[in-house]
Amino acid sequence: MNVLVTGGAGYVGSFSVRLLERSGHGVWVYDNLSKGHRGAVAEDRLIVGDLKDRQLLEKVLRDNQIDAVMHFAALAYVGESVEHPAAYYENNVVGTLSLLEAMRAVGVGRIVFSSTCATYGEPTEAPITENEKQQPINPYGFTKLVIERALADYANAYGWGYAALRYFNAAGASAEGEIGEDHQPETHLIPIILQVALGQRQHVSVFGDDYPTPDGTCIRDYIHVDDLATAHLAALDRLDSGTEMKLNLGTGQGASVHEVIEACRRVTGHPIPTEVSERRPGDPPTLVADASLARQTLDWQPEYTDVESIVESAWRWHQSHPNGFGD
Ligand code: UFG
Repeated sequence: MNVLVTGGAGYVGSFSVRLLERSGHGVWVYDNLSKGHRGAVAEDRLIVGDLKDRQLLEKVLRDNQIDAVMHFAALAYVGESVEHPAAYYENNVVGTLSLLEAMRAVGVGRIVFSSTCATYGEPTEAPITENEKQQPINPYGFTKLVIERALADYANAYGWGYAALRYFNAAGASAEGEIGEDHQPETHLIPIILQVALGQRQHVSVFGDDYPTPDGTCIRDYIHVDDLATAHLAALDRLDSGTEMKLNLGTGQGASVHEVIEACRRVTGHPIPTEVSERRPGDPPTLVADASLARQTLDWQPEYTDVESIVESAWRWHQSHPNGFGD
């Protein structure tokens, strides 16, 4: 199959690109490099372009006889989305509608879409099933929900097949340590902790230790990016006309901020000083996936089932690439 991967030079996208290539698919990466890294993908596969450039998208889809799209390109910082909602609506909603319309013009009707647990807002149950009400509490989550809805409408009206994959906390790096997480600025917990272990930061701020959880810190479901990639491929294989999949992707295991810091201490052998600070606005206490529907539907299961093994892979990457991709 010929697959166009938008945002394929970004963190989760680059892992799916690698797996698609290894599985024998024809792969083209479409990325404006605002967040992605040139070094994360092969140069001859990369098309530098913006989602809002519909003409270029149509040309790329047509010229390369694309059969399906994996759509990762998005702005994805919760805090930033609260401060600059316009950029999120512009990129995640307007940009995605431009992509969908380019696909429609060319007759490509299959898409795997990066959605998020942030579409659930503050869930009432843990673990969270797909039946949980989607009531996002920030613009980022809302932009992703809008596109889930658009895809359902396109499937209904135009017979498209789609998968909306709701990731929990993507983490880790490739087993060989050649690609991994590199966000500018970095806001995610595991890379921040590992930057402390590398001596690049003095300490980790623990954002609140008075949450209603056993140790008072927030609980998240960390899922390895390679496991996200295998789920994307499995979804792609099952995308027929009219197929609608809305699936949580997580391990089903929660880890608190303190537990993640402990795992990093064990893996790195570094003491990792911490300081408790204010809660970060918009952080729900607990987000853990019930991913049984994805396991069933995709005949998939995560290979990395504990935080320590995820941290081990991330640590190899951070040690070998202390400045990330260096771009
Ligand atoms: N945290 C700290 N200190 C830090 C960084 C994070 O204590 O320096 C805590 C956060 O408060 C949170 C946990 O670590 O409780 C994980 O935080 P991340 O920033 O690593 O990840 P998030 O859970 O905020 O974000 C993830 C995805 C988003 C998605 C969001 C849904 O990265 O794309 O889950 O809530 F939108």
